[in-house]
Amino acid sequence: MKILIVGGGGREHAIAASVAKSRRADKIYCAPGNAGIGQIAECVPIGAMEFDKIVAFAKKEEIDLTIVGPDDPLVGGLVDELEAAGLRTFGPRKNAAILEGSKAFSKDLMKKYHIPTAAYETFDEPEKALAYLETAKMPVVLKADGLALGKGVLICNTLDEAKDGVKTIMEDKKFGAAGSRMVVEEYLTGREVSVLSFVDGKTIRIMSSAQDHKRALDGNQGLNTGGMGTFSPSPFYTGEVDAFCRKYIYQATVDAMAAEGRPFQGIIFFGLMLTENGPRVLEYNARFGDPEAQVVLPRMKNDILDVIDACIDGTLDKVELDFEDNAAVCVILASEGYPLSYEKGFPISGLECFDGKEGYYCFHAGTKPTEKGIVTNGGRVLGITALGGTLQEARANAYAAAAWVDFDNKYMRKDIGKAIDEVEV
Ligand code: AMP
Ligand code: GLY
Repeated sequence: MKILIVGGGGREHAIAASVAKSRRADKIYCAPGNAGIGQIAECVPIGAMEFDKIVAFAKKEEIDLTIVGPDDPLVGGLVDELEAAGLRTFGPRKNAAILEGSKAFSKDLMKKYHIPTAAYETFDEPEKALAYLETAKMPVVLKADGLALGKGVLICNTLDEAKDGVKTIMEDKKFGAAGSRMVVEEYLTGREVSVLSFVDGKTIRIMSSAQDHKRALDGNQGLNTGGMGTFSPSPFYTGEVDAFCRKYIYQATVDAMAAEGRPFQGIIFFGLMLTENGPRVLEYNARFGDPEAQVVLPRMKNDILDVIDACIDGTLDKVELDFEDNAAVCVILASEGYPLSYEKGFPISGLECFDGKEGYYCFHAGTKPTEKGIVTNGGRVLGITALGGTLQEARANAYAAAAWVDFDNKYMRKDIGKAIDEVEV
């Protein structure tokens, strides 16, 4: 089978590594890929938003399956274009990817189908949002409606902060067109858990849980990022939590999308807050999480191509997912200054330490091959994942491996997985 993966980050490297394990994968391409993906796939210099070029390439190479990784092309309708050209594709169509592409849509869906989430109001005009905020309970959460690289969410503790937030999102348009509409949401407290799932339009299969660390600095300080590290499974995702989510959230979401005439085929990522009153959906994503994929996929025993086929063919009810009874921790090595400004182009040393080391993975995110070797090429540079029998062991292994590689301005959080010390194991 010839497979094309669209995207070029750590998530796509984890997907490619999973696909490469399949006996059915004869040739893997990645557009645009990165230096690490280039070691297991052929990278083609086509950007994830260059739809015409992607379709032309897939047709020319007679690709059997295209997997679309990132949110932008999914929300933009790449899957529809590939399918229209007769190409077999894994990922939601545009009318289903809106589950991630519009927060107003996803909130309205949850309200209509009684899926537990934070109370909210949607606004198209800043004046109305400001009038509402005068009476709202603080803190309050403001969300730009559209895609904003995970940055379009502002948590405001006071009325003044909230008013500034409305200006930032709706008037200054700091998150671009994503801010033409805004959701104002009740502030929830609790622990966050990420749950990824495969969906075939009707049936949903849940993967092992994970937990992300979104803030840039230790102790959950600093700015929101795409994610600085993850662990899987989450010890806070108990049997009780799982039972609640299965009853009120997972299948309900899939059924709601089908009932709306927007059947969802692909990955649904549930961002959950475990509140005192039970789990609540904070957000949906229409794709694998990054860096959640880097801890969940290495633990999956199934052949990923079998599961993807079942999603496309609508036979997921015949598949059971199976995960190793172990744990994984991923520590992101970033460039100092991320998520604001940072320098690129520094040579990376020590990558060969991962060669042949079972249970250790060096997933590339922002890297580039050059004549002087592999250099840094982004804010998040590498995702160092290690397995272990327990979360503690996996964490020790991941931090040991994070020291094997080096580059100028290397930065990582030192407290990934600290939360696991709070639970009995
Ligand atoms: P989102 O992109 O919607 O997941 O939001 C980004 C982050 O903002 C989440 O991971 C949470 O940490 C935080 N957040 C979002 N919504 C809420 C909420 N209603 N209450 C508290 N925190 C929230
Ligand atoms: N790690 C969070 C996300 O992928 O959106």
